[in-house]
Amino acid sequence: MITTLERLGTAQIVEALEELPADQQKEILRRQILDLVAHYTRIAHAPRPFVPGETRVHYAGRVFDEDELVHAVDAVLDFWLTFGRFSQAFEQGLKAFLGVRDVIPVNSGSSANLVAITALTSSRLERPLQPGDEVITPAMAFPTTIAPLVQNNLVPVFVDCEIGTYNLDVEQLEAALSPRTRAVFFAHTLGNPAPMDLIVEFVRRHDLYLIEDACDALGSTFDGQMVGTFGHFGTLSFYPAHHITTGEGGAVFTNRPRLGKIARTVRDWGRDCWCGYRNPPDGVCGRRFEWKIEALGTTYDHRYLFTEIGYNLKMTDLQAAIGVAQLQKLPNFIAARKRNFRRLYEGLKPYEEYLLLPTWHPKADPSWFAFPLLVREGAPFRREDLTRFLESRNIETRLLFAGNILKQPAYRHIRHRIVGDLPNTDRVMRNAFFVGVYPGLDEARLDYMLATFADFFRRFG
Ligand SMILES: Cc1ncc(COP(=O)(O)O)c(C=O)c1O
Repeated sequence: MITTLERLGTAQIVEALEELPADQQKEILRRQILDLVAHYTRIAHAPRPFVPGETRVHYAGRVFDEDELVHAVDAVLDFWLTFGRFSQAFEQGLKAFLGVRDVIPVNSGSSANLVAITALTSSRLERPLQPGDEVITPAMAFPTTIAPLVQNNLVPVFVDCEIGTYNLDVEQLEAALSPRTRAVFFAHTLGNPAPMDLIVEFVRRHDLYLIEDACDALGSTFDGQMVGTFGHFGTLSFYPAHHITTGEGGAVFTNRPRLGKIARTVRDWGRDCWCGYRNPPDGVCGRRFEWKIEALGTTYDHRYLFTEIGYNLKMTDLQAAIGVAQLQKLPNFIAARKRNFRRLYEGLKPYEEYLLLPTWHPKADPSWFAFPLLVREGAPFRREDLTRFLESRNIETRLLFAGNILKQPAYRHIRHRIVGDLPNTDRVMRNAFFVGVYPGLDEARLDYMLATFADFFRRFG
């Protein structure tokens, strides 16, 4: 019965279209396919009922509906694959949301960090970062905030973090300074904005580069300004755990067109030409064949003129198509993250004797990535007792990334300096963890989370 229906459906459509010109057939078929994809998504990805204790309460995840699948299939039908119409739309959409002059989509947040740092080593800059230059950064970090420093032969100078906000301790900035200091690079931890007024003042006073890893902080503001826009570069990740997703994906953004151009070149093999694929065959500049290579003494096709030691870290049009659909939902996602955070904050207050709740700067309006908790010293249980309990009840937990990065096997022997002995960072590594606030957590899941915390704490009276 089903097979007959299926064959009838396709056969009837093909027959009905036969008489029409190919272009018209194409349009009708595309519409039909996309309608079916939307219908399929509503059935195949319909929300499932939450069964307390059985359904896993994730800390993060993809939140999507038929829009994302329709966009993705639309891009597949184009089969353009690399930078195309969706990539342009995604760039424009992100630019508008962030209020910045340039957005360079890449294939991950880690790549975004690599592009940003590498761009600042460009010999085309007046004062590029040089091997051996120092970059102040917190030791409590995600590994690929630090990795690009190592990859570019820069020396991280590690400062401690603050308990409560888990951001870099700005009190240590002056102590971290040396004649080799050239930049400050840090993440806004779990979406919680660092004190940008003090950081910007420090960076200006010492003429340093400022790079903000906003991978976990899309939509967070400090004093009304989007994080990531205070310095030379901001970076984003669109891995499924983040505020919007393209599967894998990320972006570098800047208000400085010259840095944007260098970053684009670093992303695209080191190729100087950025406009050729927007307007082939001659590019937007219209001067593709007029660029001279000094060493050659004559012109060389600009599309193969290389001015940076680059990579290929581009995003595909398929990823961008999903991103375009996600951007429409971003304001609601941010509102949901804030709402869920507030709910957990109120619900976890009764356990403040044992758990330190997160804090944030009075000028910060965090678009939370997650809800961090620190088990207080002297609590009658270990962090692992609580995280194991939550996990056993199907509530996902995570630790604050790498903890003290210098204690991770890969980073133990990197060239670095440390300010003090990082007591807070070690405390976070031993006692902190986080649970989710992502928009996939509805009332039922949040109620269940709080009831499970209550179960755990019941034994302590
Ligand atoms: C602060 C921070 N920076 C960078 C990244 C890397 O992003 P991606 O996983 O897209 O490479 C992450 C990933 O979660 C992150 O949390």
